[in-house]
Amino acid sequence: MQPVVLGIETSCDETAIGIVRGRTLLANVIASSVDEHARFGGVVPEIASRAHLEAMLPSIQRALTDAKISLSDIDAIAVTAGPGLVGALLVGVASASGLAQGLGRPLYGVNHLAAHVSVDYLTHDQPTDPTIALLVSGGHSSLLQVDDITGSITKLGATMDDAAGEAFDKIARILDLGFPGGPAIDREAVSGSASAIDFPRGLTTSNDWATRPYDFSFSGLKTAVARYLEGTPSFIRADVAASFQEAIVDVLMLKALAACKSTGIDSLVIAGGVAANSRLRAVATERCEKAGIALRIPSPALCTDNGAMVASLGSLMVSAGRPATKGAFDADSSLKVEQVSL
Ligand code: KG4
Ligand code: ZN
Repeated sequence: MQPVVLGIETSCDETAIGIVRGRTLLANVIASSVDEHARFGGVVPEIASRAHLEAMLPSIQRALTDAKISLSDIDAIAVTAGPGLVGALLVGVASASGLAQGLGRPLYGVNHLAAHVSVDYLTHDQPTDPTIALLVSGGHSSLLQVDDITGSITKLGATMDDAAGEAFDKIARILDLGFPGGPAIDREAVSGSASAIDFPRGLTTSNDWATRPYDFSFSGLKTAVARYLEGTPSFIRADVAASFQEAIVDVLMLKALAACKSTGIDSLVIAGGVAANSRLRAVATERCEKAGIALRIPSPALCTDNGAMVASLGSLMVSAGRPATKGAFDADSSLKVEQVSL
């Protein structure tokens, strides 16, 4: 029998519950407080925590209804233990602990970043280890070598300043496109020219390739866009959006494919909120095909934060015979990407 695992995700502004049976998705409920944060231009931690508290029980109930199961059918519970906003994470961890104790089921405290990558295992038939993973979210951007998603992840490189999603959000703000910025820039860019403005590709000089081939930097790009806007009173917004997006996508793919090449791993997973970007998906498809790399990107809805990814990682942990998290544990807001579980 395949284990039924319920996953709880509360690291940021989504209260998300996923239920899987083995690698089959049974329910994926997301209650987002994004509208309550929009007027502040970013996520307000206190508002997020309160919203999680209110949404938790109804979301669990809805997920059970969608999955057509009852609480007693659940074999294990997984919860995002970090990284993320500490108050928000705590609501998830406390709820999951209570549920696990009440039901007498094992509890897995898992890493949000590994969970992003693991959601791909619900979509693609073949196990994807070993693989290179390009993880691009609002809080993190890194290149990983995943030898075993349940326990062996090596960080090849990461951003030295802003995360890719953060850069999208900040540029969207100065372009007056609202929050969250990624989807807004994605839409705006459709009617613009990606080659209209030649924005810089961070950390791609020959010296950078020699010393930090897998690291990213987006702060220079951000400054370049701001300067361009200051110096061009009649700028075309769609062109700025498309050219900015192209610069990010170009550098992400250059580095991801370089990692595949140098490690000899011919599989790439792209995960995290920015993986929902339509231009990244198109460029990745084209370049991976040319390079003979098997590309896996979850469906856009599974790229942004969700509970299915937490349930997916939990299910893989159960199947791999990994031990559950022992005793009571705290959320770890700065959990390192290499630590798949607590
Ligand atoms: O993974 P995620 O949902 O939350 C974190 O773990 O951070 O990622 C959120 C980030 C935000 O910065 C958002 O602007 C970005 O993902 N994002 C996108 C798109 N959809 C979401 N960025 C570019 N294009 C998109 N279509
Ligand atoms: Zn995330």
